[in-house]
Amino acid sequence: QRKGMVQMHRLSVAIDGPAGAGKSSVARMLAAQLGYIYLDTGAMYRAITYEALRKGLSEKDPKAVSEMAEHMNMKVAEGAQGMEIFLDGNNVTPFLRTEEVSRHVSPVSAIPRVREILVAVQRKLSEDGGVVLDGRDIGTVVLPGADVKVFLTASAEERAKRRFRELKGTPEERPFSSICDNIRRRDAIDAGRAVSPLRAAEDAVLIDNSSMTLEETAEAIAVLCRRVQEA
Ligand code: DC
Repeated sequence: QRKGMVQMHRLSVAIDGPAGAGKSSVARMLAAQLGYIYLDTGAMYRAITYEALRKGLSEKDPKAVSEMAEHMNMKVAEGAQGMEIFLDGNNVTPFLRTEEVSRHVSPVSAIPRVREILVAVQRKLSEDGGVVLDGRDIGTVVLPGADVKVFLTASAEERAKRRFRELKGTPEERPFSSICDNIRRRDAIDAGRAVSPLRAAEDAVLIDNSSMTLEETAEAIAVLCRRVQEA
């Protein structure tokens, strides 16, 4: 922690952007540097999707999924690997990034009631500041008054490359073309849905990190935070 930063206003930082832009890695790194809490909102949508799949519910039945979400006991906690999600006391974090959940999460996150429920949770967790949130609608819907808003993107090709490298040698490994298709499909669903489509807030700073490292990206956002602190 930088000297003199301690008494400073604890900011709320919103990082939005498409799948694979590196939002979660950047947000985690930035939060650690600032001593802030990191909230991975995508993981919350994934948790609802995971639970719906486990209960045999289909996204084609939004009423059933909404009802399940209303009665769900979701807790988030800071774990060793970053944010962890508990459903009814069980840590479901290891199951949230599977291909199956990835395939179903876009349609589940397009259910209006599911969004209402999670947006309320995210606002509550952010009310004291000192938070970095990453997602799709943070700067536009969840925290329109965020101190720093970033819209992080990279080319679809570059995002697919990163994902491909990440999965290589794991049980989730897939051909590059399949990953690329998946990313393009998710982009289209996320940008085209009626409720909170993916778009940059008018006052967001656009960062294309296609040729930037994780560290460079986190530093670029840290600079924005310092500017706000010093203003
Ligand atoms: O960032 P991610 O890949 O874990 O997000 C999973 C899905 O959840 C993605 O399809 C978009 C959706 N999402 C959303 O609609 N709103 C958010 N704030 C975060 C994620």
